[in-house]
Amino acid sequence: MASLTDIRKPVEKEMAEFESFFNSSFKSEVPLLKIILNYIFRRKGKQMRPLLVFLSAKLNGEITESAYVAATLIELLHTASLVHDDVVDDARERRGALSVNALWNSKIAVLVGDYMLATGLLVSIEKNCYDMLEIVSEAVKSMAKGELLQLQKARKLNIKEEDYFKIIRSKTAALLSACTACGAISVTKDNDIVQLMKELGENIGIAFQIRDDILDYERNGLTGKAPGNDIKERKITLPLIYVLEKTSWSERKHILSIVGKKRKSRHETNEVIKFVEENGGIDYAVIKMNQYRDRALAIIDTYPESEIKNSMKEFIYYTTSRSS
Ligand code: IPE
Ligand code: IPE
Ligand code: MG
Ligand code: MG
Repeated sequence: MASLTDIRKPVEKEMAEFESFFNSSFKSEVPLLKIILNYIFRRKGKQMRPLLVFLSAKLNGEITESAYVAATLIELLHTASLVHDDVVDDARERRGALSVNALWNSKIAVLVGDYMLATGLLVSIEKNCYDMLEIVSEAVKSMAKGELLQLQKARKLNIKEEDYFKIIRSKTAALLSACTACGAISVTKDNDIVQLMKELGENIGIAFQIRDDILDYERNGLTGKAPGNDIKERKITLPLIYVLEKTSWSERKHILSIVGKKRKSRHETNEVIKFVEENGGIDYAVIKMNQYRDRALAIIDTYPESEIKNSMKEFIYYTTSRSS
């Protein structure tokens, strides 16, 4: 599998320029905010979303300034959403360090997340990129909807496969779809291309979240997040949904009684993980994930051979085989 460094090659220069653009976009005079923003941005993520913006732009034309605006805006919103997500999920770790809510508290994390979100939106207004602002605002709305639906289902422990796909489409695929759409819009006015790129991003996004949910079951992942957190937080994802649907009534009742507990021991969490592994939950999720990966690849295959096409394909393979 190609590494992210390899995949970035054709847009290496753009990614470097993006980073300085990104870094200069979050300044604050408020001392506490300054400290926290510094803490967040020192632990940078994989930056897959800005990379996807540039790959989509270059696949369809020549990169312009608005691609940088989109990349910055989206990475800011993504980072804000992670700060908020860790409050919602009660997660103590992020990117290999303590989460903002764990290190400070939830109130501070909510406000800092809001600050970053507004900063992102302002970047696009300053640069008059209103079409992107619209696409990305829709995505942010969709993300909040997805997280709410997930919370509602977690409370009742009655999630079905159909609900799961609705949730991940909203909370994750919407933003990845905004990446490919904004990348395209920055270089072309052709609506068919923009739509095709939207579809590409959506398929990548669904595969991306299924991989994330599988990673939560892997003990030796390199995510910088504790494994088993989803079960701890009563989040029932695809591997568990599948095994619950095919298991006996009594077994389902037993597993759900563990998942539903507010506090569970490490031993109990491990029992659920083992149950999922032994009943083919991970294998099933991998099959589903690969269906979306293949849909994304089929879209890319409509393009003529090029270095950038190749990078986009490797990006898709990376999404579904990554361990971080
Ligand atoms: C994590 O996204 C949140 C999900 C949508 C699963 P990433 O895995 O891209 O997070 P970073 O930015 O690299 O930390
Ligand atoms: C994705 O869901 C979060 C967002 C879309 C903001 P998760 O809750 O699974 O993400 P991680 O695993 O905490 O990164
Ligand atoms: Mg989370
Ligand atoms: Mg997760």
